[in-house]
Amino acid sequence: MKTMDWCDKGLILLDQTRLPLEVSYITCSTAEEVAVAIKTMQVRGAPAIGAAAAYGLALAALHSDKSERKAFIDEIEAAAWMLGATRPTAVNLFWALNRMTKVVLSAGDAGVPELKKLLLDEAHLILREDIEMNQRMGKLGSQLVPHGARILTHCNAGALATGGYGTALGVIRAAHEAGKEVQVFADETRPLLQGARLTAWELQQDSIPVTLITDNMAGYLMQKGLIDLAVVGADRITANGDVANKIGTYTVAVLCGEHGIPFYAAAPFSTIDMNLEKGDDIIIEEREAFEVTTVFGQQIAPQGIKVINPAFDVTPNRLVTAIITDRGIVRPPYIESLRKLFT
Ligand code: MRU
Repeated sequence: MKTMDWCDKGLILLDQTRLPLEVSYITCSTAEEVAVAIKTMQVRGAPAIGAAAAYGLALAALHSDKSERKAFIDEIEAAAWMLGATRPTAVNLFWALNRMTKVVLSAGDAGVPELKKLLLDEAHLILREDIEMNQRMGKLGSQLVPHGARILTHCNAGALATGGYGTALGVIRAAHEAGKEVQVFADETRPLLQGARLTAWELQQDSIPVTLITDNMAGYLMQKGLIDLAVVGADRITANGDVANKIGTYTVAVLCGEHGIPFYAAAPFSTIDMNLEKGDDIIIEEREAFEVTTVFGQQIAPQGIKVINPAFDVTPNRLVTAIITDRGIVRPPYIESLRKLFT
């Protein structure tokens, strides 16, 4: 299963809105189409959004009819702005777009054809590096997973959410590959059910034992002693170690704190935002009400009901046992341990 791939027509994406009922692919041949795919969550998950946006920018470049350097760069910057306006919380989107824009700005006096090639090469590199980072992170993080561990996860931080292999699910995958006989409990993750639709499907595909629970069952399982650790992904980690991730992650972390269960966040360095001091500074995406009032297009609440739909929450650093990154496992105090990671 590949989340994304490149072909002569453009960027091929596994349409995640249709899983698990249908495994189908879409091809985005313009930057605008990539932006729509990100906004509508046909591609989702912080690292996957970043890589897709990089390809979006490469598409803008390849289709540009500007032959003059300055006009070409203006067009690339406008496309980067358009792609960046899709989803505000996952920092990987902005990280990837900045990295792409830097390629153009630091290419000396390269001509437009060369810039086009450089941009596509960089998008390929971002995708490739993401998979490698996840594999490294998986190996490192798997040391924290005891043999026979019963692991709770929230949302989907797997191959589907990344270039491949996954962050939180990468850790689980690596432990499974090492023969540790892990069992996963997947929160269904309302409102969009990434746990039920994507994590359950992805783990089942790989024959990793998985049990689906609704979001309100995690506390019960912990009370009964059925969870040994929780591992989740992240959309943005600030310099003090606060972790933004899918709505409901904070609840899981509080429950872990109450029951003395380790709570880990797994994320590549592209998810760590050293420019933001603390979680309060993160913009939390608000999505449309229909995601809460409907399930697969079926109305489940009274018409006209008032709804709020924040897509993410922030888990304060004090509840995070360790952050698993591709550069190492970091522990509190995060202000120091994260700073060290970046020096
Ligand atoms: O709204 P989504 O589905 O893009 O949210 C995804 C998550 O919150 C993931 O846990 C996070 O991006 C980490 S993915 C490796």
